[in-house]
Amino acid sequence: MSATEAPSERPPSATRLSLSHITAQNETNLLGTVHGGVVMTLVDSVAGVVAARHSGGAAVTASMDEMVFVVPVRVGDVVHFTAQVNWTGRSSMEIGVRITADRWDAVGPQVHVATAYLVFVAVDSDGKPRPVPRIVPETDEDRRRMREAEIRRSHRLARREAIKASRQDPK
Ligand SMILES: CC(C)(COP(=O)(O)OP(=O)(O)OC[C@H]1O[C@@H](n2cnc3c(N)ncnc32)[C@H](O)[C@@H]1OP(=O)(O)O)[C@@H](O)C(=O)NCCC(=O)NCCS
Repeated sequence: MSATEAPSERPPSATRLSLSHITAQNETNLLGTVHGGVVMTLVDSVAGVVAARHSGGAAVTASMDEMVFVVPVRVGDVVHFTAQVNWTGRSSMEIGVRITADRWDAVGPQVHVATAYLVFVAVDSDGKPRPVPRIVPETDEDRRRMREAEIRRSHRLARREAIKASRQDPK
């Protein structure tokens, strides 16, 4: 579907995406566990697909919030990435990605590896921001995610303004 055919609103479920990846020997850091950059690349890729599908066209990564790795991923583990649109502005979208893992050598509950929040901006063929369909939450969980995304956005904007002000008036 082209950007001009995109509807004016969509629920998160319309573009939610899950990707699973079996980690390999060539993805390790010096400690022998999986390199954080490998996980971050997949996070950005999965979130990018969700942003492109929601907005019906190209979207670029504008920012990625702090990402905390709770436990290491081991070689052979099956890592799952689940991503959805949490919030939309005029041209920007917050995509949340939850990362879990199944240990390669054990049957047990999935391990929570990390959670990431990224802002994507939908762009036209000149790379200029273009409007995105409004996200319409369907469930209590969607509504919680939207509320929390609004908190993160207001903190991002406040931080940006505070840094700008401190540069203009350094003490
Ligand atoms: C993201 C980008 C398109 C924004 O362009 P811009 O001219 O600064 O856009 P504007 O100031 O008009 O803002 C457009 C939207 O982006 C959001 N935005 C811009 N910079 C942002 C940032 N650092 N973090 C979060 N949101 C941001 C704005 O809040 C606004 O959202 P809204 O339309 O929903 O209100 C532009 O900065 C860009 O192309 N960046 C490079 C992206 C890229 O190459 N990513 C891959 C990195 S390898």
